[in-house]
Amino acid sequence: MDQPDKGSIQSGAEQSNNQEKPHKLSPMMIRLRATMAAAKYHGIDLDIRDFAAEPGESSPSPATLARWLNSQGLIAKGMRLKWRYLIRLYNSPPIVLMFKDGSAGLMVGVNPQKRIVFLRDPLKEEGTPPIAVEEVRLRQAWTGDILLVKANKKLSESEEKIDFKWLFRMVLRERTSLRDISISSMIISVLQIFPAFIVMQVVNRVVAFQSMATLVSITGLLIVLSFYEVLMSYARRELTNVMGTRLDARISIHTYNRLLALPLEFFERQQAGRVIGKVAQIYQVRDFITGRLMMTFLDLFTLVVILPFLFYISIILAWLTITAAGMIGLIVVIFIKPLGYYYGSRIEAEMTRGSAMYESVAGIRTVKTLALEPARRREWDTIIADVSKWRLATSRMQNWPETLVMPLDFFINRGVILIGAFICITNPTAGVDSGAIVAFMMLGGRVASPLVGLAKLMTTITEVGTALGQAGEILNNPTETKALTTGLRPKIIGALSFEHINFTYPGGTSRALKNVTFSIPAGTMLGLVGRSGSGKSTITRLLQGVSRNYEGFLRLDGVDLREINLTHLRRSFGVVLQDNFLFRGTIKDNITAGRPGLTMEKVIWAARMAGAEEFIERMPAGYDTFIEEGSTNISGGQRQRLAIARAVILDPKLMILDEATSALDPESEALVNANLEHIAKGRTMVIVSHRLSSLVNCDKILVMDQGEMQAIGPHEELLENCEIYRTLWLQQNRHVNDHSHSRNNKDGQNDDCGAQSLIPEGT
Ligand SMILES: Nc1ncnc2c1ncn2[C@@H]1O[C@H](COP(=O)(O)OP(=O)(O)OP(=O)(O)O)[C@@H](O)[C@H]1O
Ligand SMILES: [Mg+2]
Repeated sequence: MDQPDKGSIQSGAEQSNNQEKPHKLSPMMIRLRATMAAAKYHGIDLDIRDFAAEPGESSPSPATLARWLNSQGLIAKGMRLKWRYLIRLYNSPPIVLMFKDGSAGLMVGVNPQKRIVFLRDPLKEEGTPPIAVEEVRLRQAWTGDILLVKANKKLSESEEKIDFKWLFRMVLRERTSLRDISISSMIISVLQIFPAFIVMQVVNRVVAFQSMATLVSITGLLIVLSFYEVLMSYARRELTNVMGTRLDARISIHTYNRLLALPLEFFERQQAGRVIGKVAQIYQVRDFITGRLMMTFLDLFTLVVILPFLFYISIILAWLTITAAGMIGLIVVIFIKPLGYYYGSRIEAEMTRGSAMYESVAGIRTVKTLALEPARRREWDTIIADVSKWRLATSRMQNWPETLVMPLDFFINRGVILIGAFICITNPTAGVDSGAIVAFMMLGGRVASPLVGLAKLMTTITEVGTALGQAGEILNNPTETKALTTGLRPKIIGALSFEHINFTYPGGTSRALKNVTFSIPAGTMLGLVGRSGSGKSTITRLLQGVSRNYEGFLRLDGVDLREINLTHLRRSFGVVLQDNFLFRGTIKDNITAGRPGLTMEKVIWAARMAGAEEFIERMPAGYDTFIEEGSTNISGGQRQRLAIARAVILDPKLMILDEATSALDPESEALVNANLEHIAKGRTMVIVSHRLSSLVNCDKILVMDQGEMQAIGPHEELLENCEIYRTLWLQQNRHVNDHSHSRNNKDGQNDDCGAQSLIPEGT
């Protein structure tokens, strides 16, 4: 009715989809359709509603399109190509060619001998015969830009288990950076040897023979070498930083995507604070890779280069150094296990601390209003005591190897020198001269650090293993990605049928739904009533595909719900709950909720449908009014109406309202209910409410009790036939009855009994 004119992308697609008016499509739409056809070739059905146009682009660039496809599990790349390279792409899947008018063509084949390409009309079905186009004609239209689309063979990449193997692959994707870093490290190591070598010469020759000329040339050489070392070190740090940043971004994106792909059910069974705490452990892993692992890796290069040199200077001193360094490594290894134990306990304690803090902040309203601060504080004290205990125990344990290692370290840095001096004095023929001693002074320490680093790496690996395990505990749960990206996308009208549905919540002991069977035609307004815990919300949750492991069949317009693409399914529903989350942002942002392709007209239309227009316009900045954190500048009723606007803006064929009005005052409720009747036209509505009076106008009311269906029918019929419904009705409308009774018989004392007598015994 007062639907704004549909100028958006979405409506364009619908037009061409359903009414076959392809000639009306804008060039931009043709480009999108060509892209969708290329994706379809790889078995991915794209939803045009996922496409987010870049501001300022009249027609999407290949890069924008590639971003869209990549987000949908394909591998796409935009590039600029010459004709002679284009005709070499004969064995490739369909390629999108960008045209100068902003539209695009779909290249499905090439004949390099005849120098022609085959284009298929992107608006026609797959299998439509393509048309041959030669160079001159193509050049007139083609910009030279193409979009390559590949199937993501490793579709599982986003599904890969998060463990050491995954981590390794993540790091390996930075091969080129790793190679460059290795090369620069090698060069740095070599550059580090030369000064030692030169100083050795200085001590042996220059000082002994007092040769000024040699000193000058050696100084020159040293300056040059130092300069190169500074330069290479700079380059290596730069490379390491870039690699670290990229790795960090990749890990962050990957984990976030994985987190969002987890089913709602999963989050309901977990404490939010713990989920956040555990996922955050992945950053420990990142720090490990870019910090310790990297350092050790680089140090090892130094070791490889320096060791032969040390052996060249003096075999005895080299062995002494290695033995001492090896013992250091051994000590560290011995402590790995106990340290791992303490470390794990510390992490666990810190996680508890994190979730306690989160709970207090998230539930601060309850904490404050019930004056729970002292109790929370007491709990906090115990938690902190636990954290402190494990923290101290861990550091104490850590202190041991660090202490034990010190004498060995001293031996390498001081003892070896003394022994060298001793050999030098007692056995001048052993080849240990003063130069060699100085060289050892400069290089000996560098042997210990990589070995110790290596040993420490093993300690950290236990820590990282724990951290990875923690993150994996959350992220390795089965995601619903497959259901979100595959499956049917039928046109939804809104007929629903439940066929012998049995459902038990994961971990639940009794069935939440028992053999529920009913069906309603499209456009029905269905009310759901029943006592608390009777399974009303469960019915709405099954409808939205929150749980798919139920027994029986649930059909939407005759299609098995399990077969339907989850994203498509959920987009077909508008859902309003009792407590709706408003995001930080303006009112307009909250109504569109960041979904692309929604215009201001649509926002206003949705607000009007929800009965929110009037109060929004009274707000200081109208639709641009900023909703504060916790939506303090908005009342409960207004909040609810915003949630309804957010739900209707996509014009869903089905709407679910689960106690959407129960937190409202009678006036707001009446207002929302009046709007609901307005909204209900042309839609299937499922309304859960405890206030039966608001369901009187429903076409049908389903009465639930302990997971079982009691009756289904219109209000009048239920009032006659269904005991439970009648009881509930009378309980809620007693005063109304009282009123009518007292009008009829002036003796008000019997009223209660009058009402009571209607309530059957035992309910
Ligand atoms: N996430 C869950 N995990 C396990 N059991 C659940 C879960 N949610 C609900 N249940 C159980 O399933 C049964 C039905 O719950 P449901 O939420 O559907 O009731 P309801 O009719 O919506 O109640 P209310 O009117 O209080 O909202 C209850 O016994 C409840 O204990
Ligand atoms: Mg409920």
